[in-house]
Amino acid sequence: MLKTFSFGLVLLAMPLLALAQTAAARFDEGSKVFRLDGGNTSYVFGVNARGELQQLYWGGRLGATDSFPQARPAIEWASFDSSYTNTPQEYAGWGGGLFNEPALKVTFADGNRDLVLHYESHTETTDGFDVVLKDIKQPIYVTLHYSIDAQSGILARSATIENRGTDAVTVEQAAAAAWALPASRYTLNYLTGRWAGEWTLTQETVHPGARVLESRRGSTGHQANPWFAIQAGEADENHGEVWFGALGWSGSWRITVEQDQLDAVRVTGGFNPFDFGYVLKAGAKLETPVFYGGYSAHGLGGVSRLLHRYELEHILPRTQATVGQPLPKVRPVIYNSWEATEFRVNEAGQIALAEKAAALGVDRFVMDDGWFGQRKDDHAGLGDWYVNQEKFPHGLKPLIDKVHALGMDFGLWVEPEMVNPDSDLYRKHPDWVLHFPGRPESEQRNQLVLNLARPDVRDYVLGFLDKILTDNDIAFLKWDYNRNWSEPGWDQLPAAEQKRVYVDFTQNLYGILSDLRKKHPNVEIESCSGGGGRVDLGILRYTDEVWPSDNTDPFDRLSQQDGFSYAYTPQVMMDWVTDSPHWLNKRATSVSYRMLSSMQGSLGIGANIANWTPEEAALAKRLIAAYHQVQPTIVQGDLYRLISPRNGSEFSATQTVNHDKSQSVIFAFIHSTQKGRTFPTLKLKGLDPAAQYALTPIEGKPREGSPVVASGAWWMNHGLDLTEDFRGDFQAAAFRLDRK
Ligand code: GLA
Repeated sequence: MLKTFSFGLVLLAMPLLALAQTAAARFDEGSKVFRLDGGNTSYVFGVNARGELQQLYWGGRLGATDSFPQARPAIEWASFDSSYTNTPQEYAGWGGGLFNEPALKVTFADGNRDLVLHYESHTETTDGFDVVLKDIKQPIYVTLHYSIDAQSGILARSATIENRGTDAVTVEQAAAAAWALPASRYTLNYLTGRWAGEWTLTQETVHPGARVLESRRGSTGHQANPWFAIQAGEADENHGEVWFGALGWSGSWRITVEQDQLDAVRVTGGFNPFDFGYVLKAGAKLETPVFYGGYSAHGLGGVSRLLHRYELEHILPRTQATVGQPLPKVRPVIYNSWEATEFRVNEAGQIALAEKAAALGVDRFVMDDGWFGQRKDDHAGLGDWYVNQEKFPHGLKPLIDKVHALGMDFGLWVEPEMVNPDSDLYRKHPDWVLHFPGRPESEQRNQLVLNLARPDVRDYVLGFLDKILTDNDIAFLKWDYNRNWSEPGWDQLPAAEQKRVYVDFTQNLYGILSDLRKKHPNVEIESCSGGGGRVDLGILRYTDEVWPSDNTDPFDRLSQQDGFSYAYTPQVMMDWVTDSPHWLNKRATSVSYRMLSSMQGSLGIGANIANWTPEEAALAKRLIAAYHQVQPTIVQGDLYRLISPRNGSEFSATQTVNHDKSQSVIFAFIHSTQKGRTFPTLKLKGLDPAAQYALTPIEGKPREGSPVVASGAWWMNHGLDLTEDFRGDFQAAAFRLDRK
């Protein structure tokens, strides 16, 4: 059985034709081997003699005629290291002789906890396979879904766990997928952080034992992000083999990277098993999140280019205006008044800022926190989603009309899943929050979490959001979420079933977002959680952009944006220009430096622009216009991290190249020149060596005597030299190259 499929028809409409790839899915009846090919990747697994589904290969694309013999279970290395444990199973139940991380662990009604999953059957799907496993005795069925992307070779894997028995079964641990790598020397990359300090790329040697990346907080979290990349041997930014994955789940999650006693590595990820327990009644099913995985032979840079393209083409939602288009539209340049006014919003003040913003060339005006209920500060009002009459005596319409008259569209901040105890909603429905009866309710930022898993809470949240969007001409919601869970009780349900809150809450969140988008198909949404606390490939199916961090210091942002870019496309990365000296670090920087730092992603202005001098406003206006011209290249092109800002680097630089290689944009930053050092020559990447490209400064100058027009080969081999005057503290330059 051989099935090939390509996306050639879609690609005809795009300038990507030269890169068109095909994908193939095949199953060999004789050897019982499944093979998926896409992009530059092959993924192979088979049914071994015991009936287990066993991974056979994951890496560079193999020849079309290459074949595999039937999977052979690993040897029993010792009586302590069973064959069951050493065999890299695609989705192992905890049972039999398994010692390492299981994909699935259950308790049956009679107390039996042994689960051994064997191959049962499979079906072809449009871009892969559904493979059914079954416990050797009990009617527990697991359908493993595999699909592969023709362009990137990225696999999407998930599992449906089904109880076809008559008694309830409790699922205590359920992964979306497990990935295996053979014994070798590896480096693990992952992203860590904290509030105002998200997106640190952490790198360490893979050692024997398990490294657990997780959130137990009910949502994705700032501390770790559900993404990993494992480099082989000497692989680096530009070269070598890297395997990577990203979990699409915005609730508590866990990814375990485990090097076993024979040095093989397994990565298992899905629902966090901590405090987990999902009762599957007779006939019920549990769907896991999707775990995406891929392979690059071009280092970590190759990983992010594959992921960015995949996210743009396959993850991010489309509005009605862009439905059927290959890529979502670039983000409007926004103005947001949060850092300028905080909770002190009112009609006159917002209109004054909107006028200033429009004069800069901003596309969208967003009003942040403070417009609703009795919201004067963060002590009251969350949950009461009516317009505050004192601040907006005529409702939102005069402000929205004014914003439209100024040529911008309008966006609004909401925090739908939260409630302040000082609110009408909490006074009316104290039982709607996550809590354990009779126990204290721990407040964080003076707020509690509504139990979105409850159907009545889901209906309430969907209802008020729908009403806001129906009553007002709103193009955009900034959807915030400013604390993590505590006391996650759900006392409406029998004790044994309460832990399903970990699944139902997040599924209802996705359901609300999906219903809202269906009803208001042109509305766009940002996922914010006190900065970057809810960024993952699950929420990105329903939201158009994210707020990466409350830290808007333009220097800190360089390394945060660098870290962010390993996993997520700059298209979704909102970057605001705010005031100087910055509130967090007290660091003073120029408007030019701040603008260029923010122009690396989707640009926004969050400063009190009423205080800008005419010169500062003129500079910002010129740079916004320059940004508009090259934005698709910056946020949707191929990103090359030329000089990393990490580890106290004096310099940093990035470059993006659009997909048909007709344009490239380069950013260069100096932290602080030391000992008069000249900025390094930037050897560019990804250009067409034979084409001629003209260099235009956006900000800054090339070195005197440098060519204005030269071949791609020149820019890549000789490189771009910046003026010797480019030195000092917090300096920035940007250039564009256009094919002649
Ligand atoms: C969070 C967000 C900020 C702002 C405030 C408003 O901290 O990350 O951007 O919206 O809430 O309260």
